[in-house]
Amino acid sequence: MRPKVSLNGSLLALLSAPLALAEISHGSTCRNIHGDAGWPRPYEWAELNQTVNGQLIQTVPMGSVCHHEPFGVYNQTACDELRQDWDFRHWKFKVWEMGQIHVTHPSEIMNPYYQNQSCDPFTSPDSPCELGNYASYSINVTGPEDVLAGIRFAKEKNIRLVIKNTGHDYHGRSSGGSSLALWMYNLKTAEVMHHYESPLYNGPAVKLGAGMGVGESYMAVHEYGYRIVGGECGTVGVAGGYSQGGGHSVLTSERGLGSDQVLEWEVVTPAGELLIATPTHNADLYWALSGGGGGTYGVVVSSTVKIFPDGPFAGGALVFNNTDTPGHEVFWKGVELWYKYFPSFTVNNNTVQFVLLNSTLDAQAINLPGQDIAAVHRLMAPYLAELDNLGIIYRFTTEYSESYYDHFNNYYGPLPHGAEPVTTILYARLVPRRVVQDPTANAKLVDTMRSLVQDGKFLIGCGVFDLRGKTHPDNAVLPAWRDAQAVCIANGFWDFEAPTANNVAVKEELVDFHAPAMDAATPGSGVYMNEVDPLYKGDWKEAMYGVNYDRLLAIKNKYDPDHMLFGHMSVGSDEFRFDERGRLCYGHSFGHSDSESRLVVQQFGPIKFEL
Ligand SMILES: Cc1cc2nc3c(=O)[nH]c(=O)nc-3n(C[C@H](O)[C@H](O)[C@H](O)COP(=O)(O)OP(=O)(O)OC[C@H]3O[C@@H](n4cnc5c(N)ncnc54)[C@H](O)[C@@H]3O)c2cc1C
Ligand SMILES: *[C@@H]1O[C@H](CO)[C@@H](O)[C@H](O)[C@H]1NC(C)=O
Ligand SMILES: *[C@@H]1O[C@H](CO)[C@@H](O)[C@H](O)[C@H]1NC(C)=O
Ligand SMILES: *[C@@H]1O[C@H](CO)[C@@H](O)[C@H](O)[C@H]1NC(C)=O
Ligand SMILES: *[C@@H]1O[C@H](CO)[C@@H](O)[C@H](O)[C@H]1NC(C)=O
Ligand SMILES: *[C@@H]1O[C@H](CO)[C@@H](O)[C@H](O)[C@H]1NC(C)=O
Ligand SMILES: *[C@@H]1O[C@H](CO)[C@@H](O)[C@H](O)[C@H]1NC(C)=O
Ligand SMILES: *[C@@H]1O[C@H](CO)[C@@H](O)[C@H](O)[C@H]1NC(C)=O
Repeated sequence: MRPKVSLNGSLLALLSAPLALAEISHGSTCRNIHGDAGWPRPYEWAELNQTVNGQLIQTVPMGSVCHHEPFGVYNQTACDELRQDWDFRHWKFKVWEMGQIHVTHPSEIMNPYYQNQSCDPFTSPDSPCELGNYASYSINVTGPEDVLAGIRFAKEKNIRLVIKNTGHDYHGRSSGGSSLALWMYNLKTAEVMHHYESPLYNGPAVKLGAGMGVGESYMAVHEYGYRIVGGECGTVGVAGGYSQGGGHSVLTSERGLGSDQVLEWEVVTPAGELLIATPTHNADLYWALSGGGGGTYGVVVSSTVKIFPDGPFAGGALVFNNTDTPGHEVFWKGVELWYKYFPSFTVNNNTVQFVLLNSTLDAQAINLPGQDIAAVHRLMAPYLAELDNLGIIYRFTTEYSESYYDHFNNYYGPLPHGAEPVTTILYARLVPRRVVQDPTANAKLVDTMRSLVQDGKFLIGCGVFDLRGKTHPDNAVLPAWRDAQAVCIANGFWDFEAPTANNVAVKEELVDFHAPAMDAATPGSGVYMNEVDPLYKGDWKEAMYGVNYDRLLAIKNKYDPDHMLFGHMSVGSDEFRFDERGRLCYGHSFGHSDSESRLVVQQFGPIKFEL
């Protein structure tokens, strides 16, 4: 579980001589895809495989067992099993580990929109298993050398490069057709430091390999008596998209966001430099990586983050049903009061997570760090009195834990993976405190939530927190987080057995109707960049990055001058296009000499790579 990161002098020695790279002969602005003359030959892949000590994996999608062609591994029994594991609607009947199938595979991703049925278990066995949006090859990364080898190869052969950790991304950014993937998931190291020292922070910290999951990190630091900020979902990767894109947590009110915890990033830049970025060293890169979005500025090999002595935790859960009948409507009054009470719930570093459906308000976890059961009762008493006044029947339970670790295990576990379902269609909006504090605005917000859930197609999940008064390093987190009282996420569900068009229609209802309504009810706020539907039609630059966008773009262009890293709605992504064959192209107009020259491969930076 805890091998040490072996980053020593040998790497620098390896990287000492300058590199002569082949010119890109065809002068194209587009990356080569399968079938192009420039697509690497088998012997070239074999050479890359040698360079990375046999860690190159050619993609065989899991769904290949469900299709006769072209892999020739059709197996009906295996396919039936896979179908169960693939569709989260079956998970309640089996163990949660099933939800791991896409996480542990080098090139599978979770989101069905980007899986795009190119090779899934639900289409006909007679349809071919195609790579579609899957990477063609992955490097099972063991350290910075493999990352550099991958970058060098992608640049030299002019092919698309992607970074995959767990594959949770909602925008398909951890995959890409005809790409080489850097698969970071097996960098599972955790080095606990009791006394980390730096100009801005002295205290305990942990250096996490880029592949460490949330649940794995909880376990790793728990062994030493610490707790760490991580997501509510145990399978998300900490150093990947989570802390690079914000990162909400049960501990957000107490300690801030995931991005706020980072002390150091160890990163290989697309220009081929291995850098340490901290608030005082390569500070621009540190700033951008801490909240400016995953997969954009460089390849993170490890991140060093703050940890905190663990201690007692109290928890609660509250649920009440909608039993309204015409002429007797109290449920939505109860919900409106619930939102109004947010500021009172989040005192003393508390957070709350709840799910709202037409039928139920289910506050699955009320989290009180450092407190006891009496405190949970005190906290909730005024609100429960309101429910009593309305005549609403509820179930309220409490539980005391000796540590955050035990609390998380009780409410979100079992660790390491937890029980969070894979949500597939979603839109996460930050709810400003001023909205819930203003009765008119709050009523409008709750009306919006009501119309969202009323036909049963969507549910709302909110995380309630308070970041006021929390110090944090200067970073690229969207400022709207600091004034927010909650992140509220509209969720729709994918039907794997239905045609894609039906599912896309659900997405369109969300982005055309409900997302604009949520925006209108939360004016001037923003979104959580990691949890936005890819079809979102609002001003994504403003909503995801706000005032930080231009500065982030300048930093991206500085560290990724050859435009190696692209992700849908990532900073700089509007400078890319796909051509009619699906090639990823840089520049607004194809063949424009200015953008061509930018793709000409240049010498790597100060640290050189040579084999
Ligand atoms: C079921 C589910 C539950 C979730 N729960 C939470 C939650 O509780 N809290 C929360 O804040 N968010 C949550 N999210 C959102 C989650 O934080 C994002 O999807 C996040 O981007 C996942 O990061 P990853 O590295 O695990 O995933 P990936 O899909 O592998 O990567 C996400 C992005 O980061 C990039 N990336 C990954 N590794 C690296 C690296 N080493 N260096 C540079 N770039 C990298 C990828 O290229 C991609 O752009 C959840 C998502 C899902 C699907
Ligand atoms: C890379 O080499 C290893 C070890 O020789 C081998 O098992 C693997 O199949 C190779 N990968 C590819 C893509 O050929
Ligand atoms: C088909 O898959 C099942 C279940 O995974 C396995 O037990 C069986 O050996 C496979 N059959 C063949 C011919 O590979
Ligand atoms: C899914 O595949 C179809 C072609 O089969 C393509 O037109 C579409 O753009 C793909 N969608 C995504 C999200 O990749
Ligand atoms: C990836 O590499 C790790 C060692 O870092 C190894 O344990 C694992 O089996 C490899 N996975 C695959 C699919 O090759
Ligand atoms: C809230 O958390 C901070 C640390 O961020 C701590 O200093 C403070 O004492 C906590 N407040 C309460 C009431 O526990
Ligand atoms: C809510 O309804 C569900 C099922 O309809 C029921 O099991 C549960 O006990 C109800 N909860 C309360 C608090 O009434
Ligand atoms: C929503 O709740 C109301 C009140 O209980 C009920 O009348 C209505 O049928 C529900 N709608 C759906 C789609 O379940």
